[in-house]
Amino acid sequence: AAHDHGSGHAAHLAATADAAPAPVSVADLTGPDSEPDRRFTLTAQKKTVRLASGQTIEAWTYDGQIPGPELRVKEGEVVEVTLVNKDIDAGSTIHWHGLDVPNAEDGVAGVTQNAVMPGERHTYRFKAEQVGTFWYHTHQDSLEGVSKGLFGSLVVEPAHPDPDRAREKDITVMTHLWDDAGIAIGASDGVDRVRIAPGTPVRLRLINTDNWIRQTYRLVGSDFQVAAIDGTDLNEPGDLAGGTKLVLTTGGRYDVTFVMPDRPVFLGIGFAAGSRLGILMSPDGSGDIPDAPSGGSEFDPLHYGKPAKTPFGPDSAFDREFTMVLDNKLGFYDGKFEMLYTLNGEVFPNTPAFMVREGDLVKTTIVNRGMVDHPMHLHGHHVLVLSRNGEPADGSPWWSDTLDVLPGDTYEIAFRADNPGVWMDHCHNLTHAVVGMTMHLMYE
Ligand code: C2O
Ligand code: CU
Repeated sequence: AAHDHGSGHAAHLAATADAAPAPVSVADLTGPDSEPDRRFTLTAQKKTVRLASGQTIEAWTYDGQIPGPELRVKEGEVVEVTLVNKDIDAGSTIHWHGLDVPNAEDGVAGVTQNAVMPGERHTYRFKAEQVGTFWYHTHQDSLEGVSKGLFGSLVVEPAHPDPDRAREKDITVMTHLWDDAGIAIGASDGVDRVRIAPGTPVRLRLINTDNWIRQTYRLVGSDFQVAAIDGTDLNEPGDLAGGTKLVLTTGGRYDVTFVMPDRPVFLGIGFAAGSRLGILMSPDGSGDIPDAPSGGSEFDPLHYGKPAKTPFGPDSAFDREFTMVLDNKLGFYDGKFEMLYTLNGEVFPNTPAFMVREGDLVKTTIVNRGMVDHPMHLHGHHVLVLSRNGEPADGSPWWSDTLDVLPGDTYEIAFRADNPGVWMDHCHNLTHAVVGMTMHLMYE
């Protein structure tokens, strides 16, 4: 697809360090006077950040770093995060990408709150009910803000992990490409080295925060599993051969798990031939990068893992059915003639709003008639993939919050309208979202 980017200019960032989605209602939260379980402050501020390449970028950051600090909390905790805007003149917010928080906490400037301007602050509160890998980013002019560095990871750990899970070596890998200076951060030679004892269960949380580039990862040196997609655990994920390509859309997440062997394992990022960008894991932190097998298949979630019970499925009676046609056309936007990205033929704000009633079971058919892929991101809800191009999704229940729809593809997805509010539904290629491909889901 046109958005594939094989050059390996990813910046990767390593920080050490199942869940059927459930809505959180404001009533579940302890009152504003009570103590949250966890309290964080993030300060949006400008900062000149030096990339490992030696190039510097005039970044916008949370707390002066890219990515922002990882927020790691436990399932069930009430989390309070105060955003302080020091000097981001354009304003900023925090959106909890993939976490189905109450609408008022969703962080969308102009929809659920006003942008937080320099000198102002805003406090978010939510209960972390979904275990998994998420991320946060500004949602005030997201394209510019995320491009400049206003993002970080958000991990919700299980409250009662099983023993294997508790001993996991857990590594978050956020990738982001800077157009001109797309070089690894946090690794002087492009390769981070991590020491892991053989026999240790390992979890790599892959998060692609790029603005429009599908990122490719390859784990070489061990079989592995994709344990979760977009934060939701898969049921009995099978073994994938080392070298299997993982292509992750912008905004999407894969949790990759394996047991550390007694030889090096390499997570390659952007895997163009010869690319040595990534993370080398080995028993003593040294060793050579194992050779990638040539060729190799690409991971496809459609038939992966074992089916399991879901709260609804293809044969359910749906209360509403919508069709979403994704396309592109040349036209004027904000006075500029350019390629526009359309939803049902329109560009925002003329795109339709999908209206639902609380409790509705909703089926949406998404058709991509355009020339490039579109990772469609619905806020506040997780969708169950029912089928792609008429083929039923018969593997692990595949829940997504950021579904990459390739040119020519038709997906049927379903979700329960269980989280009232006004929600964004947009392409997470932020370059598309700003020229049309944005709409709302609204509750009557
Ligand atoms: Cu990750 Cu509307 O955003
Ligand atoms: Cu798009």
